[in-house]
Amino acid sequence: MPAHDSRLWTIDTPNTSYVVAVDDHDRLRGLHWGPRLSPEQALALLDLPESPFRPVVGREPRFDLGAASAFQYGHNGLQVRFSDGTRDLELVFAEAIEEDGDLTLVFADRHYPLEVRTRYRSHPGSDVIERTLALRNTGTEAIDVVRADSATWVVPGLDTPRLSQLHGEWGAETQLTRTTIPYGETVIGSRRGITSHQANPWVAIDDGAATETSGPVWSTALAWSGTWRITVEKGPTGSVVVSAGFGHDPIAIRLSGGETLETPIAAGLHTAGGFASAASAWHDYALAHVLPHPDEVRPILYNSWEATEFDFTAEDQMRLADRAAAMGCELFVMDDGWFGARVSDRAGLGDWTPNPDRFPDGLGPLIKHVHSRGMRFGIWVEPEMVNPDSDLYRAHPDWVYHQPHRRRSEVRQQLVLNLARPDVAEHLHARLDELLSQNEIDFVKWDMNRPFTEAGWPDGEDPDRLWFDHTRNLYAILDRLRADHPNLRIESCSSGGGRVDFGILRRTDQVWTSDNTDALDRIAIQDGFAQVYPARVMGAWVTDSPNPLTRREVPLDFRFHAAMAGVLAVGGDLRVWSDADQARGAELVADYKRIRHAVQLGRRHPLQAGAVTGVQYDRGDQTVVLAWRRARSFAYPDPLLKLHGLDPDARYRDERTGRVHHGAILAAHGLELGLDPADYASAMIELTRLP
Ligand code: DGJ
Repeated sequence: MPAHDSRLWTIDTPNTSYVVAVDDHDRLRGLHWGPRLSPEQALALLDLPESPFRPVVGREPRFDLGAASAFQYGHNGLQVRFSDGTRDLELVFAEAIEEDGDLTLVFADRHYPLEVRTRYRSHPGSDVIERTLALRNTGTEAIDVVRADSATWVVPGLDTPRLSQLHGEWGAETQLTRTTIPYGETVIGSRRGITSHQANPWVAIDDGAATETSGPVWSTALAWSGTWRITVEKGPTGSVVVSAGFGHDPIAIRLSGGETLETPIAAGLHTAGGFASAASAWHDYALAHVLPHPDEVRPILYNSWEATEFDFTAEDQMRLADRAAAMGCELFVMDDGWFGARVSDRAGLGDWTPNPDRFPDGLGPLIKHVHSRGMRFGIWVEPEMVNPDSDLYRAHPDWVYHQPHRRRSEVRQQLVLNLARPDVAEHLHARLDELLSQNEIDFVKWDMNRPFTEAGWPDGEDPDRLWFDHTRNLYAILDRLRADHPNLRIESCSSGGGRVDFGILRRTDQVWTSDNTDALDRIAIQDGFAQVYPARVMGAWVTDSPNPLTRREVPLDFRFHAAMAGVLAVGGDLRVWSDADQARGAELVADYKRIRHAVQLGRRHPLQAGAVTGVQYDRGDQTVVLAWRRARSFAYPDPLLKLHGLDPDARYRDERTGRVHHGAILAAHGLELGLDPADYASAMIELTRLP
């Protein structure tokens, strides 16, 4: 329950407090985000000096609600343009509403008909605070909303503030980088219509000295799958604010009279114990408050894409399904190429009926075959897209994003459907609902393979609204399909990991992490991914060697052990795997089934010793270690791998060898891995805590 005294409010979580206060000028100041405070301590924050105001420089950015107004020269999380051209806001505090543990602070402009609500929510057992902003046009004339960040987080003063971010590109998503924050504004975001491969909507701030296991960390993640922007601003004396919201410049959204704009959730988290404990708190939050079926462990899926690409028959899929079932896979996913004229990437997108040559009797026989092998059946779709060579495009060329007198740029011979249009959204929902109603489909891989270009809607009333409504309508379709097909499970994919965020994860069950299935590259991608998202959603396929993308040759065990750190899946061409590899694959699949509860639902600790890296997952009495070493230098022996978070007084049995270890020794000295001395050595070790 938020405690408050006059114009000061505290949002408490188990270990932290977030304190805001409305000052004498009705500005909302962020007073504290850090260790938990008593009500008396929180009140004492009012005695601290406010950042000095100097007319030439303005004021250090320390406002929780950064409304554009006089002397606010930095990034303002709230920017509007009224119909007469006025841009400055003069907000007056109206009231605080406390309901079910949520706090809403209501402001209204002194003159113009705009009401602004900032909302704060915490959940029992989590240090994450969820924030949104709501804007209501209480008049009749339209107001242009130029920027409506969900939250502006005021980080306490730090000596050398450092930024952690996840950047990348296709095939190289979620690369973790930590850099000293420069003065001024550092902006990351997406203008692509999707979350993007280039940046993930998450950042962390620390004092420059945090490690995996120590130091305070402040982080925020935006739950939105369209365009977005996170601004990290360091003021002249080093103070830092982080403002996160949907939309990108230079777009604006027109708010008509009586209309309300609700922003997506920006979640914030303060932790004291280093990066690994921050990551772990994000994972717990995802499992408890984001995912639709958090207690389910994900099945081991087989995906046919890398095996066949567009070149297959129904019989090929059945043969792959037989091999996948024999290996122990539990879900068979037929990827691209099953519908319309889609025998290459040049045609058919948009026509969601089975290709008559490949499936003359429809999908029924294949689905029956897959089910008869004891597996669930999944299918690939890319509903937001159309090939110009498709029946859908021929019938509705105006249904794609386009601008008058501009070309329609194709990527992979495809254009983006204007999902912001209600008729397009209705059509897509109807096609998908029909597909799911007429076939026993258990799982959908929802792909989205190109960013927006020429994003226009010539007949639309508000040209920029498409950037918001595309994502809203995507969410609405997913929500509706889930409600009507409650057993359906969904994977979010966007050329690999282009749409991974807490918005899509609210309505999907897992994500396709990257099209790069090279085990070595994957370890880096997975490490970045794990800063925010739990292993429970991180799809990881074992594919062929040499890897189709990197041409790197990696032994089967190493490929499996890398993929076992997430939701293990198989994506190789099993028709050509040797009998020995199939048999070893089956053993490793069986191994994964023993450890997957710990991996997918347990606590993750990153591990490192010399050239050996690894992850440890703990759940109940089970501790699992997955470790990898690419190469040794000078034939030096592998070091022992120190484990984290174990009970020093407990003993742990190594299930491979039966050897019993002391927790204190595993933490202080480490575990002997017994890796093969050759390159690309890896191991999976199961430890059981003894009673
Ligand atoms: C991109 C995805 O990331 C791949 O896994 C595959 O589904 C292809 N699209 C199919 O076109």
